[in-house]
Amino acid sequence: MSAHRFGGLWTERKLAALREYLKQYQVIFTRNEAARSFQTVYVDAFAGTGERGSRQEEETESLFGYGEEARQFQTGSAQIALSPEHKFHRYVFIDSKATHVAALQNLIEVEFPELKERSEIVLEDANTWLQKWCAGQDWRLQRAVVFLDPYGMSVEWRTIEAIAKTKAIDLWVLFPFAIGANRMMPKDVLPETPWAFRLTSVFGTVDWIKRCYRKSSDTDLFGATRNSITKIAGADEILEFFLERLRLVFPHVVEKPLVLYNSNRTPMYALCFAAGNPKGGKTAVKIASYLTSKR
Ligand SMILES: C[S@@+](CC[C@H](N)C(=O)[O-])C[C@H]1O[C@@H](n2cnc3c(N)ncnc32)[C@H](O)[C@@H]1O
Repeated sequence: MSAHRFGGLWTERKLAALREYLKQYQVIFTRNEAARSFQTVYVDAFAGTGERGSRQEEETESLFGYGEEARQFQTGSAQIALSPEHKFHRYVFIDSKATHVAALQNLIEVEFPELKERSEIVLEDANTWLQKWCAGQDWRLQRAVVFLDPYGMSVEWRTIEAIAKTKAIDLWVLFPFAIGANRMMPKDVLPETPWAFRLTSVFGTVDWIKRCYRKSSDTDLFGATRNSITKIAGADEILEFFLERLRLVFPHVVEKPLVLYNSNRTPMYALCFAAGNPKGGKTAVKIASYLTSKR
């Protein structure tokens, strides 16, 4: 199996929220009369290998008595979704790396052979696959949970729009507001073109420029005009802008996402949640808000 090392204790918090959400989702879709008639799909679009290697900080933690807890979370998102407590009608795992896809195939064959028939493993760019899939499905009889867990600024706004448009998907998206977007914006100059393009692709608009920068011009003692630019947004304002963007396309969005910090208490990512179904999304957001508020 290809060793896939990433994350720290913050990863556990992220996966704990996903695990609990999937559990509650199953409760609704098995017990609720109306919800029972839907086919349910879980899509893990930056799936990894299904497992993740333990890291030193977690092992150190276990010396002080957190061993069980740490071990419990050594699984990756795919393994969590495939666990017997969740029973989706279909599972889709996407990764752009061939070794990760091979590891996922192996994981399902060895540990979840009973789910092989209902699982699809895709070697493709997550954005391309999701945009096609969302537009091509009949959403009258289907509901889905989509988990977007990229390392960086890889989720295109067009993908988020496509997901919202189905009105049938509950979306968990990890947004690197502090270690991604904020760092891509220098203090007194606009980002270089490739980064600016990436920011526009992630926010789906060039409005991030006026939200995050102020342009001003002064006249100096000799009457010459000097234009300057200053960054006026910090990481928190950048996150708020992303949430505002989500609210434009989803009827229900968790107000306070789960902010994930590294071991120095520096913020890195925000785990955001949005639900596309105008009716069912209300309950979904209630559950997700509870999970993101857990510290
Ligand atoms: C943070 S890891 C995912 C971890 C996983 N969710 C877990 O909990 O085990 C991100 C994964 O996304 C994959 N990836 C990166 N860019 C991608 C893209 N454009 N489309 C699909 N997968 C991508 C990487 O190969 C990597 O396996």
